[in-house]
Amino acid sequence: MEQSSIGMFDSGVGGLTVLKEVEKELPQENIIYLGDTKRFPYGSKSKESIIQLTQKGIEFLTSQNVKVIVIACGTATSQALEEKKKKYRIPIIGIIDGTVQYIKKKEDLRKIGVIATSGTIRSRGWEKKLKEQIPDIEVKSKACPLLAPMAEEGWTNNEIARLTIREYLKDMHDIDALILGCTHYPLFEPLIKEELKNKVEIIHTGKLISQQLKELLKGLGEESVEKKAGTQIYLTDRETNFIQVASVLMENREIAKKIEEVQI
Ligand code: DGL
Repeated sequence: MEQSSIGMFDSGVGGLTVLKEVEKELPQENIIYLGDTKRFPYGSKSKESIIQLTQKGIEFLTSQNVKVIVIACGTATSQALEEKKKKYRIPIIGIIDGTVQYIKKKEDLRKIGVIATSGTIRSRGWEKKLKEQIPDIEVKSKACPLLAPMAEEGWTNNEIARLTIREYLKDMHDIDALILGCTHYPLFEPLIKEELKNKVEIIHTGKLISQQLKELLKGLGEESVEKKAGTQIYLTDRETNFIQVASVLMENREIAKKIEEVQI
């Protein structure tokens, strides 16, 4: 098999917010996406469990001969990426580093809010990297454990979502930028923007990852020249809302045809 696809994984539908951006930025690339729907949510699990689950995801993707792996999950990036990166020869990137570099370059962004799952916030993964790279930065973090399950349910634009966002963001009105530190959260972007009255820059990690990935593939001389297989999605449990939410998010009613169940 050719080493031609980009491998990507998340606990569920959230990583598709990254996939969508990568498909836009790198339309010629083939992508293999793994959604570990059987074990969703990752956000409330221990660091040890996240390390094990990340290992499983990486093993599955390497068995598909991918050329690079994108951990399209904030929870796995913040708790397992550094450790796993050392173990494999294949490049593995997550959602934090590229975002931190973007903020570093934008000097008007020094008061930063981070919203993410409980596991990500507990790990202080964002805060540590931001402060390491930008000493004069101020970081406000907030765990939003209800948002990823609501996104999997397709509740991203109703009254319950609006009130939940309002409650979680009540201390985030005086910041320069808000990092959506969980890949499920861009699904709430319209409500988040509305709540923060368009005064705060909303940082969608998927857009930054797709640019980082482009540079990385160029540097490695691994860019695809033509799309052959397209996008293939594997789920560890097909009996979820994934297909419904994914078809709305990806604006593709035929998405079920790209989905297969896999046991890992
Ligand atoms: N999309 C994930 C993240 O970025 C995981 C959410 C979850 O499984 O709780 O953190």
